[in-house]
Amino acid sequence: MLIISAEEFSLWKEKQILKGGDHQSLNLLIDLLGGLSKNEFNLLKIKSEKKLKLKINLDILESFWNKHLETCIPIQYLSGSSYWRDLKLEVSNKVLIPRTETELVIEIISERFKNKEEKITFVDLGTGSGAIGIALALAYPNWNGLATDIDKNAVEIASRNFTKNSNQSNLEFYDGNWWNALENFKGEIDLAIANPPYIPQCTYEELPLEVKNFEPKCALFGGEDGLDHIKEIIQNAPSYLKEKGLLLVENHFDQGERVKQLFLKNRFTEVNVLKDFAGIGRFTIGRYK
Ligand SMILES: C[S@@+](CC[C@H](N)C(=O)[O-])C[C@H]1O[C@@H](n2cnc3c(N)ncnc32)[C@H](O)[C@@H]1O
Repeated sequence: MLIISAEEFSLWKEKQILKGGDHQSLNLLIDLLGGLSKNEFNLLKIKSEKKLKLKINLDILESFWNKHLETCIPIQYLSGSSYWRDLKLEVSNKVLIPRTETELVIEIISERFKNKEEKITFVDLGTGSGAIGIALALAYPNWNGLATDIDKNAVEIASRNFTKNSNQSNLEFYDGNWWNALENFKGEIDLAIANPPYIPQCTYEELPLEVKNFEPKCALFGGEDGLDHIKEIIQNAPSYLKEKGLLLVENHFDQGERVKQLFLKNRFTEVNVLKDFAGIGRFTIGRYK
């Protein structure tokens, strides 16, 4: 534990940012590794006589910052953790860093399922760090959740994240290729959500180094047109969903209309493309017959 004045800490921050990088990443590093949020720091600036507490000393914090600047490793992987909604999740380079736009999935579901007493079975396909599955299991304690991933490391991380963030037992974890992990639940799923890898080949090649060099390709790459996994998920959904069950898929910014057509081709009804914060058709939802 390190105790220093807000003034001394401000000077240290200024020195770090002069080396490169951006304020947002530096603040995230200080928060995730130093245990001091930007808001707490700003409050201390007003009460300048107060001292602030950091979990690690400035030399160590600086060495992490230098490593980020030298290698472009995302701060979340350096610290081994990431914020997502109100969750703090363990992450490693075996799982995607959960994205802000995906947070909207929970809002979309909350709009549709206002009655929290209802008991349903939901699936988070390709759970990664567990973000979607955990948030829904926490928001709906009566729901029975199943979270799957092809990567056993991801399943382990997601399962640990659930244990750390909850004392509930309404989320189970399975590994396997999309629906195959759920052979025992055929025809029993009320709601399935997937944020699958959907980046097309040409876009994948152009991704920022921070993403391409460190985040798992298996979490990002969706084949030539980006739709390989989305097609597989939609085509096989009818065997697993209940009659009138819902499927929600996150897609790339320009895939909404094509994903909608895939839903319709596979006999889904009430198919809608929903926009994200940036006004992009980011989510496609449909009901199975
Ligand atoms: C875009 S990431 C989403 C992770 C997490 N759901 C989120 O929103 O942050 C896609 C996830 O799908 C998993 N995945 C990729 N191919 C898969 C497959 N064939 N079957 C099951 N999961 C797969 C990846 O391991 C990765 O965790």
